[in-house]
Amino acid sequence: MAERLLSPKDGEDESLLDINLRPDRLKDYLGQVKVKEKVGIFIEAARRRGEALDHVLLYGPPGLGKTTLAHVVSNELRVRIHATSGPVIERVGDLASILTNLEDRDVLFIDEIHRLNRIVEEYLYSAMEDYKIDIMIGDGPTAKSMKVSLNRFTLIGATTRTGLLTSPLRSRFGVDLRLDYYTSGEIEEILKRSAGILGVEITPDGVVELACRARGTPRIANRLLKRVRDFAEVRADGVIDTGVAASALEMLEVDPLGLDNLDRAILETIIGKFGGGPVGIDSIAAAVSEDRDTIEDVYEPFLIRQGLLAKTPRGRVVTQLAYSHLNMPVPRVQKGLFGD
Ligand SMILES: Nc1ncnc2c1ncn2[C@@H]1O[C@H](COP(=O)(O)OP(=O)(O)O)[C@@H](O)[C@H]1O
Ligand SMILES: [Mg+2]
Repeated sequence: MAERLLSPKDGEDESLLDINLRPDRLKDYLGQVKVKEKVGIFIEAARRRGEALDHVLLYGPPGLGKTTLAHVVSNELRVRIHATSGPVIERVGDLASILTNLEDRDVLFIDEIHRLNRIVEEYLYSAMEDYKIDIMIGDGPTAKSMKVSLNRFTLIGATTRTGLLTSPLRSRFGVDLRLDYYTSGEIEEILKRSAGILGVEITPDGVVELACRARGTPRIANRLLKRVRDFAEVRADGVIDTGVAASALEMLEVDPLGLDNLDRAILETIIGKFGGGPVGIDSIAAAVSEDRDTIEDVYEPFLIRQGLLAKTPRGRVVTQLAYSHLNMPVPRVQKGLFGD
């Protein structure tokens, strides 16, 4: 349960929650100040010139607002958005029909763009660059290829890590925007906004309590709010204060740093099975039975940011803080490693 609760990835039953809480204008898109400033300028410039916005690449860990930002951009540009994702576009024909249906200045949002297959990806290049594609007419020996012009459109691609993208694809984006984890203050603002929309009563202390366990991730913040609200309705008088928030989160096995069972399992495995590290990511993934990408995209960045894990040229090592957080004694060798 706790695992799913803190996963920054989309849950299945979440679309409804998402629709209500997802900001649709730039002014309601909280945090990400630098990104917002750039986006605001690009949008204004494109609108004044009556041109399509340059292609935009959004990257950052799951749950930070990439999909939301793509929708915000299309709303601000007052154009339609067509949303799809890398693995869904299986054939060149699928992509061709999407592209030829785009109207002038529309936004095409491709989530998980690093998962496009190579042939489809290469087909996208000329569409992005020259707004032209080749279409096959007929089949067999009489088949002919025909150049078709497309309307000017804006491609917004989203990915968790830019390292996953091929360089020809990456170079075709005019704008690169990196979303980073939110500060506690920003998460607090998001929680207050969401509580208002959901009609949940939460005290300022309650907001702080939830914010510090949300891993700097709006999707997790909203999910915690929803779960803690259930708890508050059943066990308290519906109001979320520090006490209610803390006991709800304890029941949900989210610790005060926002760590869940898998985070703790990762740290405990490195300590118990690999002497605190250094250990490679594949060994960690195998030991906790989780897939390598999820650990690299989701768990590791958070643990590193919390100062519990460090990356060294020889592999991952847990830090002294990890031992104290887990209430485990620091071994002698490990002590030497930290210079004390
Ligand atoms: N900047 C933001 N301000 C307010 N809420 C946000 C913001 N970014 C994301 N959210 C909330 O978090 C949820 C997850 O965001 P989403 O765009 O789906 O993340 P991603 O596509 O990066 O995985 C959204 O439904 C929205 O409710
Ligand atoms: Mg998304």
